Amino acid sequence: MAATNHSNFDETFYRGADSFFTANSDIGLTFDDVTLATLYSDILPSQTKLDSRLSDGLQLNIPIVSADMDTVTESRLAIALALNGGLGLIHYNMPERDQLGEVSRVKYHVQGLIQDPIKVSPDQFIGDVLKLIEEKNFGFSTFPVVDEKGALVGLLSGHVVKPRYASKKVSEALTPRSQVHTVTRMELGTDPIAIADKFFTEHLGIHKLLVVDEEDRLHGLITMSDVERITQERKAQFKPARDSQFRLVCGAAVSATRNAFGELDRERILNHVAALVERGIDVVAVSTAHGHSKGVGDTVRVVRDAFPKLPIIAGNVTSAAGVEYLADCGANIVKVGQGPGSICTTRVVAGVGIPQMTALYVCSKAAAEKKISILADGGITKSGDIVKALTLAQGVICGGMFAGCTESPGDVVEIGGKLYKQYRGMGSLSAMKAGSAARYGHDKADTTRKVAAEGVEALKEACGPVDRVLASLIGGIQSGMGYLGAGNLEQLREKARYIRVSPAGQREAAPHDVVELKTKN
Ligand code: XMP
Repeated sequence: MAATNHSNFDETFYRGADSFFTANSDIGLTFDDVTLATLYSDILPSQTKLDSRLSDGLQLNIPIVSADMDTVTESRLAIALALNGGLGLIHYNMPERDQLGEVSRVKYHVQGLIQDPIKVSPDQFIGDVLKLIEEKNFGFSTFPVVDEKGALVGLLSGHVVKPRYASKKVSEALTPRSQVHTVTRMELGTDPIAIADKFFTEHLGIHKLLVVDEEDRLHGLITMSDVERITQERKAQFKPARDSQFRLVCGAAVSATRNAFGELDRERILNHVAALVERGIDVVAVSTAHGHSKGVGDTVRVVRDAFPKLPIIAGNVTSAAGVEYLADCGANIVKVGQGPGSICTTRVVAGVGIPQMTALYVCSKAAAEKKISILADGGITKSGDIVKALTLAQGVICGGMFAGCTESPGDVVEIGGKLYKQYRGMGSLSAMKAGSAARYGHDKADTTRKVAAEGVEALKEACGPVDRVLASLIGGIQSGMGYLGAGNLEQLREKARYIRVSPAGQREAAPHDVVELKTKN
């Protein structure tokens, strides 16, 4: 009797993406409609690698991006996410100047060498320095003191930056140059962190090391806390996502801004993107509800022409033609998702949108042809959804998963003994009034027309720091990859086999017929 080829037998039920989605082309499928089949594995979850190259010049160590929403991503969340290897997209529902400030906060966070430290001059008063700290919201109060030629004069220690000394001059209060520890750029060599680490161990109680050039001009500052954090990071499995200058990566969303005549405001868009680039932005996201549109395509073209090497994310789309269009305009990465988001009502209000797994499959085909990446944007409520999304996309964008985090914008409110944070759709009336109307093709100043909201205002239960949320998401992704025998994300995309799930199968997938006990973490 001929032996049964069981791999072929499995293929009849558990199909690869092309076969599965083509066979289901008459129905829109989302995460819970499908499940992934397990495959032979010699990979332990802890051995799986999650790095994802989204484009030339944009490499993440985990494939997770936070949504450009005003209740999700500002600098605090972007920093926390980048420190874990992901990327935050700073939203644009704020004045352009404020967005630049948010980006700077991410790019200048925890560096091995702060190349352009904030300095003060000997003629300033301590009161001026206190004002500067308040205005700029600095979280530190020790400053190098330099003369008009940039030469190091001393160090103003945080101990003397106090209101009681406000009328004293910096020159009277500083620690003089002869007592300030410095190192020259040459001495730092190729591993400045190792040199600085040794220095701090040998110099008890010194927390700051200044870097000077041969003419004693200030060239940088290394702090002990940065060195300790970086030394710690070197041991972590998922390293922070950094640019070539060792700064954390950061993205910013921009809109297809129009002028008073309704035309694309090319100059304003370009000036703003130029300012973002100057601050070291790693990627801009032309972020709208309908990416397969002239305004978005023209915006991508304008930015691409001016910044040939800048990674550009554009969206959102749910069709192969949409991906192709944005890729041809110059986008490197396309956001996929119309209406899957937890606060979205686009499908209800406009009757438009595609369930996410089908949309991802369709878009992935065009993306592969155009050699660009796609990001699965919206609808992710659990780590299993991320694993499914990553079988078709190079990364995921999450809003609701992070909206309850300590690092997301907004205050915690208590209702009935539980803690919540606000989470609102960028197409909700309140968000559009605050500035995001362009994203939905409306004008916020236009009060004469009725506009339909495409999102709701909601609350998310407060869920603690991003680190904790990411730890459980990453654990889940690695577990899924282990079940599929996928050592990295490319193998996950190659190996995935799908089957549809019946409503009874969906019920079976979640805990059932038990009273669940929760262990507090
Ligand atoms: P999740 O499910 O992660 O979704 O909370 C976040 C994504 O939802 C999109 N988004 C909206 N979509 N109306 C919509 O139809 C809205 O008001 C809205 N606000 C955000 C967006 O793509 C985000 O990343």
